[in-house]
Amino acid sequence: MKIGVSGASGQLGQAVVNEIVARGGNEVVAISRTPKAAAGVEARQGDYDQPATLASAYAGLDRLLLIPSADLAPGVRGTQLVAAIKAAVAAGVGHIVLMSAAGTRAQEEPAIGAPYWTAEQTLIKAAPAWTILRMNYYAESLVQEAQMSAQSGALTGLTENRVAFVSRADIAAAAAGILTGEGHAGAIYNATGTAAVSGAERAALIAEVGGFPLGFVTVPEAALASGMTQMGLPKDVVNTVISIQRDFSNGAFDIVTGDIEKLAGRPPKALREVLIPLLQADAAGKS
Ligand SMILES: NC(=O)c1ccc[n+]([C@@H]2O[C@H](COP(=O)([O-])OP(=O)(O)OC[C@H]3O[C@@H](n4cnc5c(N)ncnc54)[C@H](OP(=O)(O)O)[C@@H]3O)[C@@H](O)[C@H]2O)c1
Repeated sequence: MKIGVSGASGQLGQAVVNEIVARGGNEVVAISRTPKAAAGVEARQGDYDQPATLASAYAGLDRLLLIPSADLAPGVRGTQLVAAIKAAVAAGVGHIVLMSAAGTRAQEEPAIGAPYWTAEQTLIKAAPAWTILRMNYYAESLVQEAQMSAQSGALTGLTENRVAFVSRADIAAAAAGILTGEGHAGAIYNATGTAAVSGAERAALIAEVGGFPLGFVTVPEAALASGMTQMGLPKDVVNTVISIQRDFSNGAFDIVTGDIEKLAGRPPKALREVLIPLLQADAAGKS
């Protein structure tokens, strides 16, 4: 089979490519604006913002994974993903897999979940065969948040909430399982960690593993937004953080499934296991 990964040069995409190559038996095509060739991997240029480039990028593929870009400007990712789905269908790709997000539901822009909803609906209507993998929140992004919060000594939330943080590596393994496996057409999976942890629980875990004091405090939305604005963060970033925090509070990421184990053939790592190398590398860098 010829399997394409769109967004292959990114952190998640590279991990997916490596997982497919490690499984063997398939041809892999790595696609993005600046694709990276590697042993046994064909590189093709394809830009979500220039749909004409996608026809040749997606030609001849049996299966294709679409990973959204990280463009946070309202409306951009929805437009990009709809263009990519249409191009893949027109190119004759038999099975399209979409990387979506936990808790996806009907939402309007500029909510961060809006492009995932638009893309899921387009995919279901247009693709000859489709699978959706809804990812939970990256454990790696939690570590970044903790590093930025170390000085203030507290993670923040609009309310207490639960999130089933998951590593990129485990999401990638699940995606590769879908792309190389059978029986996944028409399925919506949720790639989650092993437990949905509260704000207080994750702060305590990071404090213990990272060896620095960290708590969890709830902050009204207006105060959180104005604090970030005063720190000089761009408007799109402020809106994105608020949108994510609303999703956290609404329970969008409060879901734990066995889907990674089912798809990857191995269970996901617990949050503690993911945190140890990331926080210890951080501590080693400071000493
Ligand atoms: N669940 C979570 O916690 C969480 C957190 C952050 C992000 N995300 C989502 O997960 C996605 C993947 O994460 P990641 O860490 O792998 O992000 P990443 O490293 O920034 O990768 C993004 C990929 O998108 C490609 N890309 C960007 N603009 C493009 C365009 N116009 N046309 C075609 N390809 C384009 C990039 O390649 P080129 O630059 O070579 O085109 C790259 O391969 C993100 O983009 C975001 O949608 C999820």
